[in-house]
Amino acid sequence: MSETSRRDFVKRGCGLAAAGLVLGADAEPTEASGDLGAYARYQQEKPPARNGAGQPANWVATEDNILGPFHRRGAPFRAKVTPPLEPGTVLLVSGRVFGLDTRRPLANAVIDVWQANHQGRYDNDDPKRPPAANVFVNRARVITDENGYYEFETIKPGPYRIGPKTWRPSHIHYWVRAPRYRELITQLYFRGDEHQKTDNWIRDSLIIDLRENRAAAKATYKSGTFNIILAAAAR
Ligand SMILES: [Fe+2]
Repeated sequence: MSETSRRDFVKRGCGLAAAGLVLGADAEPTEASGDLGAYARYQQEKPPARNGAGQPANWVATEDNILGPFHRRGAPFRAKVTPPLEPGTVLLVSGRVFGLDTRRPLANAVIDVWQANHQGRYDNDDPKRPPAANVFVNRARVITDENGYYEFETIKPGPYRIGPKTWRPSHIHYWVRAPRYRELITQLYFRGDEHQKTDNWIRDSLIIDLRENRAAAKATYKSGTFNIILAAAAR
């Protein structure tokens, strides 16, 4: 952190404390948090940290996949990939990151995700209208917790055309980094996408199933699990 940004950081922090806005460790949710319904139940189903449920059935390193031309560095750390009210099918993706050598969850792995919108467009796919440097649409980074667990909310990306008769199936790009492990650049795909039949890069091991969930009376969202196993870096 530079001296200037360190000063700003301290100034902002002090300002918040003076305004009484710093939450104590014993802070409780307020009544306004409301009833989380099916989502609260979903969270209770989070797999345990140790051996048993939630462990990958097949201990092989997650397959890599092409980087593609649309990655941008520096996406913000946030658990919602899309802007508010982004059109499309709401999608909750979660999973755990493990080390292949130890078969243990990896805490503090950084997962950089980026994707197209529901019409198959990236925020930087039009060279004539590049996005502002500090605006990241449909991009985010998340960090795994002490159980190697991560989740983010997004929308299901649309497929996009890359040739007269060629399409890329719907996918989410992943770039995963954890200390002492090999970096993984890969993509997540969804079962049942017709464009997978003609795609050159699709890999069966990277396709997940989606479940339909009811969040409220008239609101539904889809959810899926994508676990990641990283190979140890060469020493
Ligand atoms: Fe892509």
